Formats: sequence, C-alpha cells, structure tokens
Amino acid sequence: MTENAKSISYLTLCYGLSAMLGLVGFSLQNLPVWAASEKTYVGSDSCQECHEFEYKSFKTYAKKAHSYKSIEIMKKGLTEAEFRTCFECHTTGFGQPGGFQSVQDTPHLKNAGCEVCHGPGSLHIESEDPSDLKEDLTAKDCESCHNAERVAAFDYRPLIHGGAH
Ligand code: HEC
Ligand code: HEC
Ligand code: HEC
Ligand code: HEC
Repeated sequence: MTENAKSISYLTLCYGLSAMLGLVGFSLQNLPVWAASEKTYVGSDSCQECHEFEYKSFKTYAKKAHSYKSIEIMKKGLTEAEFRTCFECHTTGFGQPGGFQSVQDTPHLKNAGCEVCHGPGSLHIESEDPSDLKEDLTAKDCESCHNAERVAAFDYRPLIHGGAH
C-alpha cells in the first residue's frame, strides 16, 4: 500500500468508527426518552373531528396555523443551518420524539399546531382523556418560544388565551 492509500483507509476507518459510536451514542441517549413517554405528535388535523370549533377558529385566526410560511419566505437569505434554527418555534415538536423533521417526512407538523401548547396528542386521541395532555396551561408553557428576549424586542407579551382559539 502506498503512504497515501494507507492514510485514506485509516481515515475511512476513523469515519466508520465514529459513525458507529455516534449511532450507539444516539440510541443510548434517545431510547430512554422514547421508552419513558409513549406520547408523540399527531398534528392539528387529528384534532378536528372531535374539536371542530377550536380547530376552525385556530385555522382561521391563529398566526401559528401558517407559521411555516413565515420562515419559508425568509429562507433565501439564510444558510441551511440558520434555517433549521427556525424550526424550534415555527414547527411542532422539532427535536422531540415524534416531532417535526422535514416538510417531506412530517408535513402534518410543519406549522406550530395545537400540540405546541397542549403537548403531544397521540395518547389523548385514543383515550379522549384530557389528563393525557398537558393540563392547566400557564405562561410558562409559552416561554420556550415567546421568550424574554423576543418579548422585549417586540414589546409584546403573549396573553395566556391569545393565539389559540
Ligand atoms: C376522538 C376524539 C378526540 C380527538 C381526536 C381529540 N380529542 Fe381532545 N377531547 C376529547 C374528549 C371526549 C375530551 C373531554 C371533553 C370533556 O371532558 O369535556 C377532550 C378534551 C380535550 C381538552 C381538554 C378540555 C378540558 O376541558 O380540559 C383539550 C385541551 C383537548 N381535548 C385537546 C385536543 C387536541 C390538541 C387534540 C389533537 C391532538 C385532541 N384533543 C383530539 C376527544 C378528542
Ligand atoms: C413552539 C413555539 C410556540 C409556543 C410553545 C407558543 N407559541 Fe405562540 N407563536 C409561536 C409562533 C412561531 C408565532 C408566530 C407565527 C407566525 O406569525 O409565523 C406565535 C404567535 C402567537 C401570537 C400572535 C397572535 C396570533 O394570532 O397567533 C400569540 C398571541 C401567541 N402566539 C400566544 C401564545 C401563548 C399564549 C402560548 C402559550 C399558551 C404560546 N403562544 C405558545 C410559537 C409558539
Ligand atoms: C425562540 C422561538 C423562535 C425562533 C427560534 C424563531 N422564531 Fe420567528 N417568531 C417567534 C414568535 C414567538 C413570533 C411571533 C411574533 C413575536 O414574537 O413578536 C415569531 C414571528 C416571526 C415572524 C413574523 C410573522 C408575522 O406574521 O409577522 C417571522 C417572519 C419570523 N418569526 C421568522 C423567523 C425566522 C426566519 C426564524 C429563523 C431564522 C425564526 N423566526 C426563528 C418565535 C421564534
Ligand atoms: C397558543 C396555545 C394554544 C394552542 C395553539 C391551542 N390551544 Fe387549546 N387551549 C389553550 C388554552 C390556554 C386553553 C384554556 C384551558 C387551559 O388553560 O388549559 C385551551 C383550551 C382548549 C380546549 C378546552 C375547551 C376550551 O376552549 O377551554 C380544547 C378542546 C382545546 N383547547 C383544543 C385545541 C385544539 C384542537 C387546538 C388546535 C386546533 C388548540 N387547542 C390549540 C391553548 C392553546
């Protein structure tokens, strides 16, 4: 083997190993989370049949119902990495089990939907039990997205019943 070929195969081995370790790390980190909560995101359309009123009013009035559009129109000026930072607030469940991944894979979660406030709905749509959702919402449930920095910048505080239905 030439010196070059050796270093190339060494590099391939390193990449192979780190990819494998990465995979192991990924499953060790993420499996317990999956196991601990079987709740996953189902998307706002899954709520329509039982909550027609809230669904209609959300779709008609809430800016969240088209929050993906807001980031899409700004995509041109952003790198892919910068664009992905928008997903945390403008989509449903990004970075969480069963949450938004991409428009292709999870089109039903591309906007910030019912579940950004009420929590993942998979158990509730089966059980119809309110206790399978987040109960007693408070301003704390809004702060991950409507954070202090943003509230100060826009000089606006979310009202607890605002932006819902
Ligand atoms: C198959 C029917 C069904 C589906 C689908 C469904 N729900 Fe419900 N939901 C119910 C029922 C029944 C109740 C209990 C109503 C009651 O006790 O007054 C309820 C209660 C709730 C409550 C609590 C109301 C309260 O008074 O505390 C919320 C919030 C809620 N649902 C949100 C959702 C969301 C968000 C979705 C979609 C992810 C959803 N529901 C999908 C049937 C459904
Ligand atoms: C996952 C992130 C997220 C969470 C959690 C969240 N919001 Fe929002 N909210 C948004 C985004 C994003 C917008 C702007 C959508 C757009 O215009 O593109 C928004 C818009 C709003 C608006 C503007 C008016 C309108 O019609 O939509 C209000 C009011 C609001 N949210 C209230 C709340 C309240 C109250 C809570 C907590 C109970 C909450 N939000 C939780 C992301 C979130
Ligand atoms: C930490 C949460 C968060 C992140 C991250 C975030 N946004 Fe937002 N965005 C909001 C909230 C909340 C609003 C609602 C308006 C407000 O806060 O005044 C909003 C509003 C907007 C609006 C105004 C929509 C309207 O109807 O006026 C645009 C455009 C927007 N965001 C684009 C982006 C882009 C592009 C990114 C990524 C580079 C991004 N946002 C990242 C939370 C976020
Ligand atoms: C911005 C946050 C937010 C979003 C988004 C949201 N809700 Fe709610 N929802 C609330 C709040 C706050 C209440 C009041 C009850 C509470 O404090 O838990 C509520 C109450 C409800 C109730 C109980 C009846 C009532 O009106 O009090 C139902 C049913 C419900 N939501 C369904 C939905 C459905 C279905 C969607 C999506 C189409 C949705 N919600 C989106 C915040 C939200």
